[in-house]
Amino acid sequence: MPRLTSDRRHRVAFKLNGRPAEGLAEPRMLLTDFLRHVLGATGTHVGCEHGVCGACTIQIDGLPARACLTLAVQADGAEIRTVEGLAPAPGRLSILQESFRTHHGLQCGFCTAGILMSLDELLTRRPDASEEDIRHQLSGHLCRCTGYGPIMKAALEAARRLRGPAGEGAPHA
Ligand code: FES
Ligand code: FES
Repeated sequence: MPRLTSDRRHRVAFKLNGRPAEGLAEPRMLLTDFLRHVLGATGTHVGCEHGVCGACTIQIDGLPARACLTLAVQADGAEIRTVEGLAPAPGRLSILQESFRTHHGLQCGFCTAGILMSLDELLTRRPDASEEDIRHQLSGHLCRCTGYGPIMKAALEAARRLRGPAGEGAPHA
């Protein structure tokens, strides 16, 4: 349980993309605001702020979650992954990110961080995911630019590379 400080904010500490992160949060502060405004991790986007658009999707303990529906204090002690944690090394992209670049899976990019975090979870869990599985996963995301076609192409290519003969490893490898 997060510790309460004298000004009634809570100290919240978790692993963010494999590194310790902590800060103070009022009890009703959303995890999106904590990530962006307290920790400076602005890769996570905020759209509708009520769980509909999927822009704020991150991974909490390995599962996709809406950061706009999560209180910062609920994340205390968790393992959090955000889009900043997808690239395997500076200057490199994950297989999924490369596929998005190749197939123009983004235009304005507002939806992209959330979509990548959802697809990364699916393809880590199921590199053999079918087109239907991918469509199902994407059903939790709104994109106003792409018409979804390039996103599907990118996801299918990433899945194909991940389950190829040699297998190229996890989507974030
Ligand atoms: S901002 Fe969280 S679902 Fe839209
Ligand atoms: S790329 Fe603009 S909303 Fe999806």
